[in-house]
Amino acid sequence: MIDILGNWKRSHFCGSITAADIGKEVCLMGWVQRRRDHGGLIFIDLRDRQGIAQLALDPDRDPEAHAKAERVRNEFVVAARGIVSARPEGTVNPKMTTGEVEVEVKELRILNGAETPPFMIEDNVDVAENIRLKHRYLDLRRPNLQSNLILRHKVAQIVRNYLNDSGFIEVETPVLTKSTPEGARDYLVPSRVNPGMFYALPQSPQLFKQLLMVSGFDRYYQIVKCFRDEDLRADRQPEFTQIDCELSFVDRQDIMDVMEGMIATVFRDTLGIELNLPMPRITYTEAMARFGVDNPDMRFDLELVEISNIVKDCGFKVFADAVKKGGIVKLLNAKQCASFSRKEIDDLTDFVKVYGAKGLAYVKVQEDGSWQSPIAKFFTDKEIALIDEAADSEPGDLLLFAADTYKVANESLGRLRGLLGQKLELARKDDFRFVWVTDFPLLEWDGEARRHVAVHHPFTAPLDEDIALLEGDPGSARAKAYDLVLNGSEIGGGSIRIHNSEVQNKMFSLMGITAEEAEKKFGFLLEALSFGAPPHGGIAFGLDRLMMILTGSDSIRDVIAFPKTQKATCLLSEAPGAVDDKQLRELSIRRAVRNK
Ligand code: AMO
Ligand code: AMP
Repeated sequence: MIDILGNWKRSHFCGSITAADIGKEVCLMGWVQRRRDHGGLIFIDLRDRQGIAQLALDPDRDPEAHAKAERVRNEFVVAARGIVSARPEGTVNPKMTTGEVEVEVKELRILNGAETPPFMIEDNVDVAENIRLKHRYLDLRRPNLQSNLILRHKVAQIVRNYLNDSGFIEVETPVLTKSTPEGARDYLVPSRVNPGMFYALPQSPQLFKQLLMVSGFDRYYQIVKCFRDEDLRADRQPEFTQIDCELSFVDRQDIMDVMEGMIATVFRDTLGIELNLPMPRITYTEAMARFGVDNPDMRFDLELVEISNIVKDCGFKVFADAVKKGGIVKLLNAKQCASFSRKEIDDLTDFVKVYGAKGLAYVKVQEDGSWQSPIAKFFTDKEIALIDEAADSEPGDLLLFAADTYKVANESLGRLRGLLGQKLELARKDDFRFVWVTDFPLLEWDGEARRHVAVHHPFTAPLDEDIALLEGDPGSARAKAYDLVLNGSEIGGGSIRIHNSEVQNKMFSLMGITAEEAEKKFGFLLEALSFGAPPHGGIAFGLDRLMMILTGSDSIRDVIAFPKTQKATCLLSEAPGAVDDKQLRELSIRRAVRNK
């Protein structure tokens, strides 16, 4: 029933034969996409990673091959030998690269059968993602996922070539290691030979790449898996890949220049798009003021405007009180959205409540320029005129207001801006807008833990002009940190590091980390810094996120071969799984919960 490959050798990929091959004998191998019987003549669409070729089997020309073709079903693995010929007039398919030709089959071999797949192997199949993930090896046969992963391979190649040419050296760093703080929980691995002890999987190679600078490697890179046990979203995975870089004897400008070159090369050599360099830069403070978030989508305007000064003494208590309590009042002018229904505005209000907003006051600017709004009555003509001027309002506009703390007002309107960009279709997937966001705060106050925590990570250096602030006002110090944001997504982040053990110790103490604790957790780094650490800095890009945007995918899972679900499980291999008691005993581990 099943034929053997024997001495057959594939001559071409299915997707590669064209009119230029007419008259040639070819040998194709692949999967049956579809079989069609046309009263005698059988056509088979044969698929491989390059595309689809049409096989034609004529019972008169070759009865044996034709008889075999009758047994073929979808997803059977088949090899065919025959002659490339022009398709008869009227049957040419201009949409396919192979659409002008077909293969007149002389010999057919069925190399393997296949069960009926749980879903059709084609793009845009309407099937639940969990079924696709469970049979990921079939899902990965779909052209869309194949091209995503092939593009990912190309990007990794381009990145390696670029970094190699720029003097970077690829070095591997350990996966069984100690905790590296990047703000998420660690995945832990028990040590059998050291009972009660655990390794942590790296959240990033941060500490090791800094040590490599101390060792004199000067420029390091690695395309590397990182592990973070955090809440998953559409653009987050528990294990993901970084393009991780570190450089010595450089400042921020040098790092941004090399990295812009890398990203520009990727865009040129994949999508054929020439990016304008240098990429725009804005400070964190400016990003928050104009967009309310530190990862602004630059494809559209809809900038936020602060009106605290105008409304601090106004008759609308919600606004005036917010300012009196040290908060702010901001507005977002949703251009030409005055026609939004009550329900649409209620939906926007529910949306901002998720970010802590207590409401979403609104004004519809009418044809004559006057305000239609439940809150219009609280404002004087002068205040209305000033707000209109600040908002640059025009008839037909919808003004949306948030009065709250700096954090809540910005986040609410910033996220709302992102939502409106989508809703109003202002953000096109084939438009790529980059922005560097710089000068992040060095520390932020964690109210729960009652201590400062590092905004980037504890190894990030303060701006030179802000070092003095570390003594009296550490919360105001800015960091030599930068993120690269593409279309509203943070695709990379890095900083110049502290290369001096005294400053590093100072940072730890500001964060409420005692000397003993610092010694225990990072003693090896502190010691290394005292042995002649060069000034250094670096950056890491999220390869998965970059690929998501390059391929126009809505989910990070569409650019990863074997991704995890929102619950961090692998539906295919059924990881994580239970282990037996014997294995746990060997690891000196006792369960606190029973497995179901
Ligand atoms: P950071 O934590 O900003 O920096 O991470 C760098 C980039 O990695 C991507 N990323 C993720 N992608 C998918 N899933 C996740 N869970 C996830 N978490 C992060 C983002 C992010 O911009 N060691 C520092 C870098 C440095 O300072 O050099 C670091 O890891 O695109
Ligand atoms: P209220 O006075 O609570 O009836 O609210 C009047 C309008 O102001 C409603 O549209 C609320 O959604 C809105 N609102 C209430 N609190 C806030 C706030 N903190 N910021 C912005 N708008 C608010």
